[in-house]
Amino acid sequence: MSKQTEQAPDLSIYTSLAEMIANFPKAQYARALALLRIPDLTVAGPRPLAELVGETGAHPESLRRFLRACVMLDLTVETAPEVFGMTRMGALLHSASPFAAIARGTAGLQHYVPYGYIVDTVLTGRPATKAALGMTFYEYLDANPDELRQFGALTSITSGDCGEAVAAAVDLSAYPTIVDVGGNSGTLLGQLLTAAPGNRGVLFDRPAIVPAAREQLAGAGLADRVEVVGGDFFDRVPDGGDLYTLKNILWDWDDADAARILATVAAAMPSGATLMIIDQFLPEMPLGDGAELDPRTRELHRVSFSILLQRGGRVRTEAEYRDLVTAAGLTVTEVLPAPGAKRRWDLLLARRP
Ligand SMILES: C[S@@+](CC[C@H](N)C(=O)[O-])C[C@H]1O[C@@H](n2cnc3c(N)ncnc32)[C@H](O)[C@@H]1O
Repeated sequence: MSKQTEQAPDLSIYTSLAEMIANFPKAQYARALALLRIPDLTVAGPRPLAELVGETGAHPESLRRFLRACVMLDLTVETAPEVFGMTRMGALLHSASPFAAIARGTAGLQHYVPYGYIVDTVLTGRPATKAALGMTFYEYLDANPDELRQFGALTSITSGDCGEAVAAAVDLSAYPTIVDVGGNSGTLLGQLLTAAPGNRGVLFDRPAIVPAAREQLAGAGLADRVEVVGGDFFDRVPDGGDLYTLKNILWDWDDADAARILATVAAAMPSGATLMIIDQFLPEMPLGDGAELDPRTRELHRVSFSILLQRGGRVRTEAEYRDLVTAAGLTVTEVLPAPGAKRRWDLLLARRP
């Protein structure tokens, strides 16, 4: 008898696996509560179903069953027959809380539906978004303005204090004009310019993002120091900058597309300008059943597959970034960490000769 069959069976693996399989819809309950704004509507306390129906325009019987299902998930409570409020956990989905944006964005259909097509991606090596949604990830956002807005809110939240961490790690005064390529609604650029009051900025992203970026940067009091430019980074990006930042851009794309983006950025950079890649480098894969898996390693190896599934991209090691940047004709000058409050960013700086 082998050693394995002699051991007492670990019953927890049955329940863990059963829970993993059964739990797939949970995120959608949280997202739907946030989209229906039930936490906002009950912020002052539980309310009768009829009032919630009136506020949401929902189908009464379906809303009742949905809210009762949410009771089973510890998101809502029924305090009297057909009177519903939020638990402390469910209340975190209030639209003033970052969790509402996380639930709406992370569980948005462009993120969620492709998971039904994992086998396709594993067999073909291509993202599943075309099969799942009939278009690419970013085409889907363009066609769905609500999802576009929610994706912007999500990237802003996951960006956190990245700009402050970068400003603490690098002397930004050496770069009077900063061009943030694929900067979405301007969270990173806003933080960089706030930390470097003498600098100017150019935010470059797809045309659909431009209005939200203008609004956010104007709201941060930066309208007179920033230009917002819409375009396609496979064609061209604004020229004349001193520092070009690419934060969480290359991980969306396979090596061939990442090389095309770096080529257009390198072509726009004046001689002596600097490229800064801001990403998280893929840690070594720990091997073996009992291997130590720290949270960062767990997250990045998981993201490296999910980003392939959704967008065809990959999380890269430092060596892989060095190869891409060098192939674009740039000289790597520095690699350093930028620790933020929630995560550590990895910076790779390269100069255009
Ligand atoms: C993963 S998000 C990162 C956003 C931001 N840099 C951050 O880290 O929060 C990728 C960004 O690339 C932009 N993008 C995608 N395709 C693009 C294209 N062809 N041209 C310009 N921007 C593009 C998206 O609109 C999005 O804002």
